[in-house]
Amino acid sequence: MTIEFSLHQRTLTLHRYPVRSNDTLQAWDAGDEYLINHIEEMALPDGLDILILNDQFGALSCWFSAKHQVTVMSDSYLAHQGITHNLQQNHCPAVTLLTTMDAIPNKVDLVLMQIPRNNRHLTWQLSQLRQAVDAKTPIIAVNKAKEIHSSTLNLFSQYLGNTTTSLAWKKHRLVFSFADCSPVRDVSPDTVWPVAGEQIELNNLPNVYSGENLDQGARFLLEHLPTLPELAHFIDLGCGNGVLSVKMGQLNPQAAITCVDESFMAVESARQNLVHNLGNERDIECVANNCLDQFDAGITELVLCNPPFHQQQAITDHIAWQMFCDAKQVLKKGGKLLVIGNRHLRYDIKLSRLFGKSLVKTVAGNQKFVILEAIKG
Ligand SMILES: C[S@@+](CC[C@H](N)C(=O)[O-])C[C@H]1O[C@@H](n2cnc3c(N)ncnc32)[C@H](O)[C@@H]1O
Repeated sequence: MTIEFSLHQRTLTLHRYPVRSNDTLQAWDAGDEYLINHIEEMALPDGLDILILNDQFGALSCWFSAKHQVTVMSDSYLAHQGITHNLQQNHCPAVTLLTTMDAIPNKVDLVLMQIPRNNRHLTWQLSQLRQAVDAKTPIIAVNKAKEIHSSTLNLFSQYLGNTTTSLAWKKHRLVFSFADCSPVRDVSPDTVWPVAGEQIELNNLPNVYSGENLDQGARFLLEHLPTLPELAHFIDLGCGNGVLSVKMGQLNPQAAITCVDESFMAVESARQNLVHNLGNERDIECVANNCLDQFDAGITELVLCNPPFHQQQAITDHIAWQMFCDAKQVLKKGGKLLVIGNRHLRYDIKLSRLFGKSLVKTVAGNQKFVILEAIKG
């Protein structure tokens, strides 16, 4: 896969994050190219304050930081790391990196957006832009044409304002908007619901995985979480809203809890949900990270994991594999990794390769899901 991003007589070297030798996925897409081509044709003056939302791995940040002051907002820890890495690698000026929970900067001359996958996250970002950005500031968004439905454009009109679109180019389309709708619609970042059949109430910030209802895999794993009187500590890897940790914390009141996710909003939701459901006195830690990078070896007795099967737009199992490898590393001898996955994903093969076939067993299964336990020998 090429790492040379060449446009307008300029070449950037761009990697996804984490950097993997022989990665088959590219660090930018035609949407980035379309946005850059469009802005270059506008021949804007240098030194603008450009706000970039949801830059994937830094193609837009690297490109525009050469001549402008750039602020990037992203909910993804991996994107933050990728952007930082690619800026350094290409000797680009620094940018200001924010999460999408932060306030939009006061001075913005131009907004560029990779439209996020999650409509609740999109609605949140549009409503924030409507409140913070001047009605004359151009807001230009991009996505694959097939992902821009009339419902997507309705969100732009309802929460932001005047909206038009471009022709498709390399299967992508631009969306042009101004923050001028009236009245301004107030959007709450919180979506709160009880978990049926449990003493659990969850708040879900806009970009949390399965933020409007319980993931079916999580539902099945909730029914099979163990009570372990000796358990001192466990890790919820890819915690999302923290539902697995909350239940595990209820079953094991003595256990300290570490929640890890690459979504800043997930980490914050998990922190809020642990405190709300388990109280202030529990020993909890919630961190944004790439899997368990930089965690010490042999620190925990149990890792819970409902792995993701995509990274941004790409379907991939390399994150699940890294999660399993990292879990093995941080487990104490005899410690357990508990994994829930769709039956067809065959996580048993991966776990057997890593832990040894005799140390992997099926805890429970139904037509769709399998819960697997792997013991560190
Ligand atoms: C299938 S969801 C599970 C969420 C929650 N544990 C549940 O069961 O409902 C997978 C989670 O992994 C997170 N994730 C994806 N890539 C990650 C990475 N490299 N490091 C840490 N977390 C990651 C996603 O943000 C998502 O919240």
